[in-house]
Amino acid sequence: MNVSDQLQRPLRDLRISVTDRCNFRCHYCMPADIFGPDYEFLKKNMLLSFEEITRLAQLFQKTSGIKKIRLTGGEPLMRRDLPDLVQLLSKIDHIEDIAMTTNGSLLPKYAEQLKAAGLHRVTISLDTLEDERFKKINGRDVSVSTVLKGVQAAREAGLGIKMNMVVQKGVNDQDILPMARYFRKQGIIIRFIEYMDVGNTNGWKMDDVFPKKAIIERIHEEMPIEPIEPNYKGEVATRYRYKGSDEEIGIISSVTDAFCSTCNRARLSAEGKLFTCLFSSKGHDLRGPMRNGADDDEMKEIIEGIWINRNDRYSQERTANTKRTSKVEMSHIGG
Ligand code: GTP
Ligand code: 5AD
Ligand code: SF4
Ligand code: SF4
Repeated sequence: MNVSDQLQRPLRDLRISVTDRCNFRCHYCMPADIFGPDYEFLKKNMLLSFEEITRLAQLFQKTSGIKKIRLTGGEPLMRRDLPDLVQLLSKIDHIEDIAMTTNGSLLPKYAEQLKAAGLHRVTISLDTLEDERFKKINGRDVSVSTVLKGVQAAREAGLGIKMNMVVQKGVNDQDILPMARYFRKQGIIIRFIEYMDVGNTNGWKMDDVFPKKAIIERIHEEMPIEPIEPNYKGEVATRYRYKGSDEEIGIISSVTDAFCSTCNRARLSAEGKLFTCLFSSKGHDLRGPMRNGADDDEMKEIIEGIWINRNDRYSQERTANTKRTSKVEMSHIGG
């Protein structure tokens, strides 16, 4: 069965956050002064178990025909024994793509196990190649080489790789070209992400956004690019190819060129709440009914009901004066 929401959007992509913890403190996501020693992360018994996650993923598959699962966090590799979860998920019928969004720091330890368990690819976040700047951004004194070792480990393990760079005007926009050059040479697709007003803690201002148009201009001036067709309907990144080659980049422009009209993504938080938008204030609890003994049909009905009623389109509605005041944190649902 296939369900569509109020805006006729199907559900295709399930993004599962496995932990709200992270070993970085990127100031735009988990600023250290708020996510400090007293911050209350989810307790172990609140987290869905791997079996519960797998059951839900299976139910999503049956309800809506999802083909793709992405594991997120926080930092997903902070969750113990994560390859075991990948292995369980990889046994679900009709799932064609299992990916993970990670900061890369723990990939040297886990890349091989993840690949063996059935992970197809990773998306690794890195905002600059300059050590000093990177340390300031990640808030934990982590150097660029730590992440690049993760990239290398993913490559050696045979995982697909893309890079994500969040661009903030005046913070790291000078790194757009060095990053484009470096990853072009490596044969790895890099996606430039407009800085977004996710969560309530990053103090986002429209002025901090370095818009898609300016990113394109900057790259095009040195390395001419041309737009290419999306890989699939609803792809988040718009793709560009370096002229005369088959190397490409992506741009994710949630702020200046929103893509809500094709948004087919559902986000499951680590404690089992279903969020139908990255900017939702509240999630729908699935853990409760599941732990209270709801059978598969009852769970499917709950999931379907949530999706059918969905009408989110935050990025299209966003203007300076309609900013929402209470939004789920990015570290809670993983982006
Ligand atoms: P591919 O499967 O490789 O196409 O990647 P993806 O589309 O799943 O992209 P990924 O998970 O790497 O997303 C990249 C970033 O885009 C996320 O970290 C978010 O910052 C942003 N993003 C992804 N989905 C959405 C969305 O639905 N809304 C908004 N506003 N931003 C999104
Ligand atoms: N705006 C845009 N992207 C963000 N990310 C985290 N916070 C933001 C934000 N405020 C990115 C991370 C990572 C992915 C999970 O989302 O850098 O690539
Ligand atoms: Fe951690 Fe990623 Fe958030 Fe940085 S952006 S604090 S690496 S979850
Ligand atoms: Fe989807 Fe919400 Fe992002 Fe729009 S803002 S693309 S509805 S997650």
